[in-house]
Amino acid sequence: QATETLGIVGGGTVGGGIVEILEKNRDLFTKMTGKEINVARLAVRDLGKARDFDTPATTVVSDNFEDILVDGSIDTVVEVMGGTSLAKDVVIKSLKSGKNVVTANKALIADCLVEIENTVNEVNANRAEGEKPVEFRYEAAVCGGIPIISSLQGDFVGDEITMCTGIINGCTNYMLTEMDKNGLSYDESLQGASELGYAEADPTLDVGGFDARSKLKILMRLAFGIDVEEDEISCKGIPELTKEDFEYAAMLGGTIKLTGVAKKISDSDVAAFVSPTYLDNSDTLASISGATNAVEIQSKNLVRSTYTGQGAGRYPTANSCINDIIKVARGDINPLPFNSKGPGTLKFVNDFKSK
Ligand code: NAP
Ligand code: HSE
Repeated sequence: QATETLGIVGGGTVGGGIVEILEKNRDLFTKMTGKEINVARLAVRDLGKARDFDTPATTVVSDNFEDILVDGSIDTVVEVMGGTSLAKDVVIKSLKSGKNVVTANKALIADCLVEIENTVNEVNANRAEGEKPVEFRYEAAVCGGIPIISSLQGDFVGDEITMCTGIINGCTNYMLTEMDKNGLSYDESLQGASELGYAEADPTLDVGGFDARSKLKILMRLAFGIDVEEDEISCKGIPELTKEDFEYAAMLGGTIKLTGVAKKISDSDVAAFVSPTYLDNSDTLASISGATNAVEIQSKNLVRSTYTGQGAGRYPTANSCINDIIKVARGDINPLPFNSKGPGTLKFVNDFKSK
């Protein structure tokens, strides 16, 4: 039986979900891919910590992720540790040693996607003839369980995207829903979001709009082929919103959502922002409630497509990583990173006075 040998770096919320789904579907995945997918190694930070999932008896658990990088039997490294510095090392070193990489790390992708893609290209340019190219996939990095990355990489290759709008932070959407529908105060709703595990370790990233901005940056690269420095994108969070703002919005027949918007404003220019925005109740995004995420794409061919689903949490996020792992195991070719306009044809302009 052919095998696909995995090394997973991180055994927390997402890593645990990946191990569970792989174990539960072991036989099915073997049938689907023609390979037995084994988690040979799992790296965590604290070996003494209790885990809320079962690790297969054959998996070697260690507190040194280098073990995974130097293990020549590992085909694919799954990086679900988070952060940017060590995680970047894991990803770059793995690719350079000829391993495929799957990651859920939006901060890393927002910071280093270009460098990672360059590494993939360099490694593949030096592969011997007939040698399988290394693959890099990051579906879970934006909107957790929504397959928005593969949709943008695949479904729009012959299309031209004109606008990408989204509710791309579950924590703040949960908070705004509670303030709007249940009359909770800002502080009460933030406490609820933290208790439910939606907030980042530092919730300023959520409420300040910065997490949404990282995701918007990634979406802009895929939708428009534009690389923009994150802090060039105007970003306004939700801390100044009050219950009264929702009452005003309701009187006008709408609500307020934290949205990330990137829009083609001329043949050559794209503008973008993250901000609380008024949405009429007839707008699809106005009905997205709780921690759900949604991305609406407007384009020449498909006109208007909306992708909605769970943006965070163990199983939605692990589900996206599993899809990537299966694609890698099956040997699907590396996805196209851009729509038909390709990179370099559009430029980012910050049209807004304050950033
Ligand atoms: P988490 O629960 O904090 O898990 C992180 C794991 O990484 C832990 O098992 C931790 O070990 C391990 N780890 C940290 N530093 C390490 C090191 N130096 N060496 C080895 N292991 C190390 O985080 P998570 O929620 O699973 O998130 C993982 C990634 O997925 C992040 O990049 C996050 O942004 C992304 N993501 C998460 C969600 C979500 O809903 N959770 C959604 C989308 C994307 P210990 O357990 O021993 O501390
Ligand atoms: N804090 C993030 C959110 C987690 O609420 O969307 C998933 O990226």
